[in-house]
Amino acid sequence: MLNIINSCAVVGLDCQPIEVEVDISHGKGVFTIVGLPDKAIQEATQRIRAALQNSGLKFPATRRLIVNLAPADTPKMGSAYDLPIAVGIMLETLKIKTDLRQSLFIGEVSLEGKLRHTDGILPIALHAKERGIQTLYLPKVNLGEADLIADLRVVGLDNLGELIEHFTGRHTIEPTRTHGLRQTNTESSYELFDLCNIKGQEQAKRALEIAAAGGHNLLFNGPPGSGKTLLAKALPSILPPMTVGEILEVTKIYSVAGRLLKDQPMIAVRPWRSPHHSSSGVALIGGGRLPRPGEISLAHRGVLFLDEFAEFPRVTLEHLRQPLEDGVITVSRAAGSLTFPARFTLVAAQNPCPCGYATDPERQCLCGAHQVSNYQRKISGPILDRIDLHVEVPRVKFEKLNDDSGGETSATVRQRVKMARTRQLQRFQNLPMVTNAEMNPKAIQTFCPLNNDCQKLMQQAVIKLQLSARSFHRLIKIARTIADLAGAETITAEHLAEALQYRSKN
Ligand SMILES: Nc1ncnc2c1ncn2[C@@H]1O[C@H](COP(=O)(O)OP(=O)(O)OP(=O)(O)O)[C@@H](O)[C@H]1O
Ligand SMILES: [Mg+2]
Repeated sequence: MLNIINSCAVVGLDCQPIEVEVDISHGKGVFTIVGLPDKAIQEATQRIRAALQNSGLKFPATRRLIVNLAPADTPKMGSAYDLPIAVGIMLETLKIKTDLRQSLFIGEVSLEGKLRHTDGILPIALHAKERGIQTLYLPKVNLGEADLIADLRVVGLDNLGELIEHFTGRHTIEPTRTHGLRQTNTESSYELFDLCNIKGQEQAKRALEIAAAGGHNLLFNGPPGSGKTLLAKALPSILPPMTVGEILEVTKIYSVAGRLLKDQPMIAVRPWRSPHHSSSGVALIGGGRLPRPGEISLAHRGVLFLDEFAEFPRVTLEHLRQPLEDGVITVSRAAGSLTFPARFTLVAAQNPCPCGYATDPERQCLCGAHQVSNYQRKISGPILDRIDLHVEVPRVKFEKLNDDSGGETSATVRQRVKMARTRQLQRFQNLPMVTNAEMNPKAIQTFCPLNNDCQKLMQQAVIKLQLSARSFHRLIKIARTIADLAGAETITAEHLAEALQYRSKN
């Protein structure tokens, strides 16, 4: 007899319906899975046999058991089909006739018959809802994730034994209804890295504020020990709270990457990723046999901090070109290519030369001119052109270090950032963008009209600084963010002049 159980495959961040067909007939005792399964699925035969036996079910060991994962021509990966396969066998063995056409099953089982934490439940729950599935059966440990999608009937299972009791009617399980994303605390405390603990460096702090408000990329350049890493670490303390849409977007990525914890089923605080310069290209941009999001996607809607920027291999940094421009990364794999979101704020920190003191007016640099220029050439022009805010971080003078008066706290700056971000959210209502940094040329034309003074200033800047078309647009976007921080409706020459200070000096 044939049983068909609904399941689905996660492809990138999306899902594709998979039908698990289980056929049990008379014949030799075989158990085979077909439909382009990978090694993990092939091994499911062993897992499911043991799991069903340990759950008190008599496994049909003397019969011919064929499982087909349809559509048969799409490669399937992972262990999430364990549950639908086990259900197909269970129904046949127990001789149960029940209509499961409106149900979807997903989850890995252990030899003991317990359901294990499974990756990608958030996109699966979303898929189930869009497909009009009535009940989603999944591991209990994943319930928190599914709960982020509203109005879905879910059954969280601890083990296969519960399902046997349910199907045989000994103990029916009533599905629960999911709530959807509820108001949550998106504020986290970063007392260790409060801006008020950083002495001097006013321009760098202001640049952090602009980066946080408008999502602009930022590069700190300066001698060792001047506070570049310290400044970058203070950025999370002034980032604006995430919107509901952003929380779902980011949580989906973490769900697929298998990075959600049972007691932390969603990402409600902006991500902060700081991969080491020895990280591989795949770790940074994503990919692999079973394609996973890389650091740049894990930093989506948050910050990607690349410390010791010039120490990253040039080829690794070049991978950042597409995501820095488009906010997405396309990774190739055998069966085609996949796209992951990667709209992050890049914060980079570097020394100006190998010894670190080329820009220090008081301390002598030990590098030759050639060494300095070689070091600076390690980052390509196109990457530098994609960084909006270039900031020199000089050594702090003793008077400043000794000054205990303290500057603005992160909480005060965060208030301004929040206000500026709210203005942007209102501006981009119904448009596929959230921050000023994401504006395309058309949006710049609509939202950033320049008055005569601004036009003149821009003309001079383009000629004098030999600005590329991209730099020209980026400059206007920064000026828009500066105006938003000031609560101004239109960009003035003053805002543009400040934006110009952060241009690359190369
Ligand atoms: N402006 C500052 N205010 C207070 N403390 C500072 C400041 N700058 C540096 N420090 C102190 O110096 C330490 C080193 O700073 P940090 O690691 O940020 O330097 P860096 O510029 O990143 O240096 P490198 O180029 O070597 O990476 C900090 O942990 C902090 O204790
Ligand atoms: Mg540092």
